[in-house]
Amino acid sequence: MALFSSATQRIPEVDAIPKHIAVIMDGNGRWARKRFLPRIAGHKRGVETVRDLVKQCVQLKVEYLTLFAFSSENWRRPPEEVSFLMSLFLGALKREVVKLHQNNIKLVMIGERSRFDTALVAEIEASEQLTANNTGLVLTIAANYGGRWDMLQAMNKMQLDLPQLNGHYREDHLSPYLSMHYAPEPDLFIRTGGETRISNFLLWQLAYTELYFTDTLWPDFNEEAFNLAIQSYQSRERRFGRTSEQLTSKT
Ligand code: IPE
Ligand code: IPE
Ligand code: MG
Repeated sequence: MALFSSATQRIPEVDAIPKHIAVIMDGNGRWARKRFLPRIAGHKRGVETVRDLVKQCVQLKVEYLTLFAFSSENWRRPPEEVSFLMSLFLGALKREVVKLHQNNIKLVMIGERSRFDTALVAEIEASEQLTANNTGLVLTIAANYGGRWDMLQAMNKMQLDLPQLNGHYREDHLSPYLSMHYAPEPDLFIRTGGETRISNFLLWQLAYTELYFTDTLWPDFNEEAFNLAIQSYQSRERRFGRTSEQLTSKT
């Protein structure tokens, strides 16, 4: 189902609990280094944080949780780390998908799959199929994802499908072709690990998202840290271009 929610086309509804949270899970390597452990130990611990965060989102009734697991630029890392991440990913999918399914969670993967090996692609497809009809939390994992890649693949498909519009494309023509067409735009973006950048994550969709950056490293991002992010979100005034006075006079 395509859902054309767009903060620039229409003012979205704002609730106390964000409907969609997008996260850059950063700081695994530094977490490990602080403990004199190899970087991969941090990635392993990071999987546990994912499990806990999913539970918290279900409890809070967040509808969409989107996690950046591997960027299109992460192939630049040492080959041993890349292959560890791929096998961690495959192992976690195999181990967790039944539990996700039992909890009515729908799993979706976004990103360019052609560079993954066939076992991983098969597992991704099987996990998506198994959970396709679930109606609870939509958990999206962005792997080999890049915001620029996403916009370009969407534009290319749109142009192939709608050549007759030639030069007259609008936002709502493009939206259905973007990887996250099934979700409203994120209300809250969280980046752990202290960096204050987007690193080619959801470039299009973050236009009006509230951004939250924390120094907490991903393996340490526990329930308390998550609640701080939610509290910060709740203290924001989401104006979408309007004035503060317009918001207060509305109710
Ligand atoms: C995030 O942690 C995980 C991935 C990018 C896969 P990092 O591995 O980037 O950890 P730091 O930033 O080096 O601490
Ligand atoms: C961003 O983290 C990507 C993921 C968390 C998957 P990086 O650690 O790769 O980002 P940069 O290189 O510091 O921008
Ligand atoms: Mg990093």
